[in-house]
Amino acid sequence: MMGSLSPLLLPLSLLFHGHLAYPWKCPDEPRSSSLDPTVRYDLPNYVAPGPIQNLISKDGQEPLVFVAITNHLQVLHGSDLRILQSVTTGPTNSSQCSQCSQCKMGSARPDQPEDTESRVLVVDTEEDILYSCGSSLRGLCFLHQLTGAKIADSKCLFNKMENSPLLCRDCVSSPLGTLLTVVTNRHAVYFFLASSVDSRVAGSYSPASVSVRRLLYTEDGFTEGFQSLTVLPQFRDSYPIRYLHTFRTEYFVYFLTVQLEELGGTAYHSRVVRLSTKEEEMRSYQELVLECRFEPKRRRRSAEPLTQTENFNILQAAHVAPVGDSLAGELGLNPEDLVLFAAFAQSDPQSIRPRRRSALCAFPLNLINKFIRRGMKKCCSNVRSVRRLRGLHYFQPEMYCPNNVNMSVPGYDRSCWNVPTLVDLPLYRVDYFNGHMDGVLFTSVYVTSQEGLTIGHLGTSDGRVLQVVLQRGCNPLTLSNFSLSDTHPVSRDVTRIGDNLLFVTGNKVTQVSVTGPGCRHILTCSHCLRAPRFMGCGWCKNGCSRQGECQGAWNQHSCSPIITEV
Ligand SMILES: *[C@@H]1O[C@H](CO)[C@@H](O)[C@H](O)[C@H]1NC(C)=O
Ligand SMILES: *[C@@H]1O[C@H](CO)[C@@H](O)[C@H](O)[C@H]1NC(C)=O
Repeated sequence: MMGSLSPLLLPLSLLFHGHLAYPWKCPDEPRSSSLDPTVRYDLPNYVAPGPIQNLISKDGQEPLVFVAITNHLQVLHGSDLRILQSVTTGPTNSSQCSQCSQCKMGSARPDQPEDTESRVLVVDTEEDILYSCGSSLRGLCFLHQLTGAKIADSKCLFNKMENSPLLCRDCVSSPLGTLLTVVTNRHAVYFFLASSVDSRVAGSYSPASVSVRRLLYTEDGFTEGFQSLTVLPQFRDSYPIRYLHTFRTEYFVYFLTVQLEELGGTAYHSRVVRLSTKEEEMRSYQELVLECRFEPKRRRRSAEPLTQTENFNILQAAHVAPVGDSLAGELGLNPEDLVLFAAFAQSDPQSIRPRRRSALCAFPLNLINKFIRRGMKKCCSNVRSVRRLRGLHYFQPEMYCPNNVNMSVPGYDRSCWNVPTLVDLPLYRVDYFNGHMDGVLFTSVYVTSQEGLTIGHLGTSDGRVLQVVLQRGCNPLTLSNFSLSDTHPVSRDVTRIGDNLLFVTGNKVTQVSVTGPGCRHILTCSHCLRAPRFMGCGWCKNGCSRQGECQGAWNQHSCSPIITEV
């Protein structure tokens, strides 16, 4: 009986799994044997005197790279990575650290000298300003004025009159991690901050969990009375929130987190936090759960049990970028629409530790915004249904959605929309790698587009970079898979200058062209000629190479031997 039904079920399952509907569009995947992952490329790099804690770049006429290590902030030239300047940032009693002695902290100054580990490094490109915040001096920040490819002047953002262990508006960075997005609004500079806290960190000179602080025009600290949300005292040691990535658009600032699914729970998942750029209060604070899944294809024989959907729960890294024309078309997006690409890993149950099983999902920002809008509408409309909780009980008391607002009445009470809320339904997307990334732990992701293609550059815990063409419904096409380091994972901080990406592995910054590291890893002529044109690969005697590397006949058209006339 069941067997005779299967021809009927097949087209149905094709209908429901849109990605199966056009398998003929997927280009042939090259055999893995036609790419050699052991080829070593000699890539431009800079080796710092210690492990790199933060890296940020400033593109433009004078491209610069800022590299932070313990007690030093280094400025490199953006194209050749030569070192231009090294500023001492610690220890705090060092006579070399002029920025340390500048801070007038009064009784807030720690008694013991401290080393400065870098925690936050952000460039405000409009203003030619670099902000850095470290582990020393209560987590305060410095404002560095950039002039002529140099840090010309550094100001200490701390006002001794205004800070105490109980209320410290100039204490910004947390030893457990802090993310910063800077927003300039009508000439005022705002810090949108998210910090991990526990009872010790929140207990004195607290950075708060999420806050918006306005920089004083005098540039020596932040204004009083800033708004914040902080994990309530009773949950500080049992409900850690890890902040992994931040970005902004014109209207919103976003943070990505990994946290427990619920208070008192043991399973972790990932969320996006959204705040309005136009608001200093936390009223428009919203959270949405992001899920990255792998849904195995349904078997044709309906008698077989359905394989379970796999969830990749731990966000590892993320990058927001527009996509190439072909993927934009597949996703129904306009070319300028931004997409959040997020690399996830699976954890063991009840654990935050990622396993070596990864996935990549893409969340268009307009879809995230739509889900948040829909969730808020559900909370604030009078559709008769079960009463909904606002959620976020680690930040605020239990509260119900009002469920009695009639939105058709002109001038209805909008106050329901102005309360921090967790949207009740998660937004899920499907893994681009179709569950194939086994034995691999992604640690970074950066996305570029070239010739209409969308290229994912994925860093791994083994110090490798995988460059793939991302296509909806087809397995990603691998362009290259090469090593940057045998000893260190690729760091989450990836930055771009012109046509180069900068990756960090341990002490090292490596420059890799967006077109790939080279062509030598492509072993067969037919694959070499089928490589996307932007890679610049062609066949040279008996190897794949870029034209400049080839002595002799090089071509992108034919694998047959070239007949030269005698
Ligand atoms: C800074 O403090 C450390 C530890 O107390 C000490 O060993 C070092 O000599 C001090 N350096 C200066 C320049 O005072
Ligand atoms: C909402 O208000 C409109 C206009 O006053 C009214 O017609 C409608 O019946 C109300 N809906 C509910 C569910 O109360």
